[in-house]
Amino acid sequence: MYSIDFNSYYASRASLYSVSERLLEEKNVFIIKNFPPDVRLMEEYACALGTPSRVERSEGEASSIVQDVTEYQTAKKDAYGYEIFSTTNKFFPLHTDQYCNKECCDYVGLHCSTASQEGGESIFITVDGILSSLNAEAIASLQNPAFASPFGGRPILSKDEQGRFNIKYNMKDILHCQETGSYRMGKNIVSLLEDFEAIVHGQAQQVKLEENDLLMMHNKKCLHGRQPFPSGQKRLLRRFRVFKNTL
Ligand SMILES: [Fe+2]
Repeated sequence: MYSIDFNSYYASRASLYSVSERLLEEKNVFIIKNFPPDVRLMEEYACALGTPSRVERSEGEASSIVQDVTEYQTAKKDAYGYEIFSTTNKFFPLHTDQYCNKECCDYVGLHCSTASQEGGESIFITVDGILSSLNAEAIASLQNPAFASPFGGRPILSKDEQGRFNIKYNMKDILHCQETGSYRMGKNIVSLLEDFEAIVHGQAQQVKLEENDLLMMHNKKCLHGRQPFPSGQKRLLRRFRVFKNTL
């Protein structure tokens, strides 16, 4: 995993931001070591990269930009009534964030405030890593708008303005959308999805975050997830999501 050190950029915050933007585009995923556990600094960093997503603050949270990701005694539920994996200690399969949003964020940051003693490794795979594991037929099929979403069928792979691939994928959400929505996927599409899920998990890399690691990921250029960890470890990550500013 490529990493830089926050302390090397302490005197020049502007260069930390520009290096981060470059690494997000070039490497798609990297770590900033020794990022202080300071929510205000995380907010500043998120705002420097673009426009952060804001959500209603949960009880005890100090920010509408930076949210706590931790195991709750009772898992939180999404709009469909399904468990949100990030509020549990369970295995969290590979995905991009905000699959059910029309426009999903460009960047996701996860700051490790309290590491888990055991388990909880972050898993990830870049879109280039995915493409190199697929044959031409699978790559073509994944570009068809054949996968369930709240807005009808959509592709998993699509091209950006530079002609390079973007990915939008969350197996759980796709299957929920099929169950609850009007868009029906054929058996061949479901089996394509199952194959894809197995391939990406077979090729994914993993990293154990240490305290004050800030894991930065391009949400349209890589999938991320998490290994399970034993309950009651007080593992705490802080997450923010950013939309790139467009000129
Ligand atoms: Fe996520």
